[in-house]
Amino acid sequence: MWLPCGCTSKYVASSFARRTLASYLHVSGRSRCNVAAFMPEAAGLEGVSGRAALRELSVSNSESFWAAVARHRLCWSTPFHTVQDCDLSRGKIKWFEGGKLNVSVNCLDRHVHTCPERVALIWERDERGSEMKYTYGELLEMTCRLGNLLRRHGVKRGDCVTIYMPTCPLAVASMLACARIGAAHNVVFAGFSADALAERIRDGEMLLLIITVNQGVRGGKVTELKKTVDTAMQSCPTVKQVFVAMRTDNPVTMTARDIAMEEVREQKEMLKEDVVCEPAVMNSEDVLFLLYTSGSTGKPKGLVHTQAGYLLYAALTHRYVFSYHDGDVFGCVADIGWITGHSYVVYGPLANGATTVLFESTPIYPDPGRYWDMVERLKINQFYGAPTAIRLLLKYGDQWVNKYDRSTLKTLGSVGEPINTEAWEWYHRVVGDGRCPVVDTWWQTETGGICIAPRPSDPDAEIVPGMAMRPFFGINPVLMDTEGEVLTSNNTSGALCMAQPWPGMARTIHNNHQRFIDTYFQPYPGYFFTGDGAYRSEEGYYQITGRLDDVINVSGHRIGTAEIEDVVCPAVAESAVVGYTHSIKGQGVYAFVVLKKGIDVQEADLSRQLNGMVSEKIAKYASPDFIQFAKRLPKTRSGKIMRRVLRKVVESDLEGLGDLSTLDDPAAVQEIIQAITCRKK
Ligand code: WTA
Repeated sequence: MWLPCGCTSKYVASSFARRTLASYLHVSGRSRCNVAAFMPEAAGLEGVSGRAALRELSVSNSESFWAAVARHRLCWSTPFHTVQDCDLSRGKIKWFEGGKLNVSVNCLDRHVHTCPERVALIWERDERGSEMKYTYGELLEMTCRLGNLLRRHGVKRGDCVTIYMPTCPLAVASMLACARIGAAHNVVFAGFSADALAERIRDGEMLLLIITVNQGVRGGKVTELKKTVDTAMQSCPTVKQVFVAMRTDNPVTMTARDIAMEEVREQKEMLKEDVVCEPAVMNSEDVLFLLYTSGSTGKPKGLVHTQAGYLLYAALTHRYVFSYHDGDVFGCVADIGWITGHSYVVYGPLANGATTVLFESTPIYPDPGRYWDMVERLKINQFYGAPTAIRLLLKYGDQWVNKYDRSTLKTLGSVGEPINTEAWEWYHRVVGDGRCPVVDTWWQTETGGICIAPRPSDPDAEIVPGMAMRPFFGINPVLMDTEGEVLTSNNTSGALCMAQPWPGMARTIHNNHQRFIDTYFQPYPGYFFTGDGAYRSEEGYYQITGRLDDVINVSGHRIGTAEIEDVVCPAVAESAVVGYTHSIKGQGVYAFVVLKKGIDVQEADLSRQLNGMVSEKIAKYASPDFIQFAKRLPKTRSGKIMRRVLRKVVESDLEGLGDLSTLDDPAAVQEIIQAITCRKK
């Protein structure tokens, strides 16, 4: 039923059909030929006479568009019968029902069949110059062994496996092994603390197994991942087994619950397993993974992505936003613990048969030339990173870039937060030698893949620095005013919403569909609300202006201000956390703290203690950059803290404090302004 022959023949047949169609179109009309050459998936769509028309059709007749693309780009064991069944007003999203497929087959087997020796992964290990390559054949073998191992240890279709690992081949194989046997995965960023890990495991229910490594290595520093898992386990009684792989040679204490996987290339437990693992036949809408992200409450939400729609969207955006072509080496430096790692390190590139880089290190280890040395050594064609790293590297100077040959680079990408013009220009001029398009890509954990980016567009279409600009195929953004009305004119700003569903969007919040509806569909009924604000220029280009809710974005990592406020310290009566502009991190964390009456502590000691507590309860990146002690916080008469006012004070925008008429006691604001001014002096 699966591969090899089914897929191969389909593959050959379709590429044959493509060639024939393309040559026919070449004779019959130039513009149609362009579309077929640009996007073979769309060649059969009626009445499409250019890229602009294709984009229009993808919105006006999205079913035809997505049906054509899904048939062409994915390998199905049973074709779907219904393209979509969505109702945004109820948060109901279903794509490609009736269709059956396996994501790991789409990411591995079909490429193994056509080119088993192609490199799937290049693991750029923390130790510079020690990269390791894995072919599609090897990755399939590792995935199958791991899939069998998971099955032997009782993991069934519909279960959920937590993966707490740094970016490495075994982590990718673990994700794909889950997909192969029909289990969902829940990757938790390896920088999260034991408490944060435990919270994510407990929320997931039915999570009986964890995969981790003895220790992580990043920037030359060792992190005790297994120990962190041990601590988390104290509050996770449902977890039955922990698989432990060895990233370093240092042994760790093993308990009855732990199973050693031994070294990466010779996983002893895994070697017992067969290299053939029958893929589970999955429905399009079965869960592929949960991924936790911060919202505006203290509790992170487990967004749920499903099989076919997610994979299709990741693959299509990877191919067209970055202009990825067969044989390219794709270098996305995100950690697999974030959605960017899921979509553009793992699923998108592998679905397209790409060689994808797994970056384990930091931009400045062992020196600020690390990225560009890697680009030269691995011959990277597309480089995709975060503005925070670009801003950091810019400060070290051009010589670290110029030292290395970057002539293989074709496209540069940016993600996670707004990229300021200075960083954009430097990325374009210095890193890309002024010849590579820079794509500022806007999207979210919720959207599954890139929604707004300068490309694809005509090859010479303008790219405006610091703007995501153009919606992707099938994406229909709208801006809303404060009354909830759609803003139709250009040169205007509003709340960014999506008027139509697309296959990559999240389907629900794990165990809490009501929260899903309340957060994304209730604020503007009939629309998906992104939580971001945006500006639409005179030309109709989009520029993201930032979050409209209490979520801040530190070095491209989302964190809810409430999550930090929820870290309880006995000396603290109440606190309020806001984001402020930070020259490297994009946003920094500013915490206002009111002590309980009668508490006598040194502020510096308490600041240190609070920082330690936030690192321990959440992660280091969430730790406040400033802690301001205050007698009281500005509140409305109904007792709500006015964070809007605090934000303005922190940014020294006293003119922009806005309407203070609802404040309970305006003197509270004056006190805070004074305290901050004293501090700055
Ligand atoms: C922000 C990351 C400006 C935005 C893929 C969004 C951006 C949140 C951009 C999602 C961009 C992401 N320009 N802001 N190009 N990309 N953001 O879920 O506020 O970790 O809502 O997904 O990051 O963060 P998340």
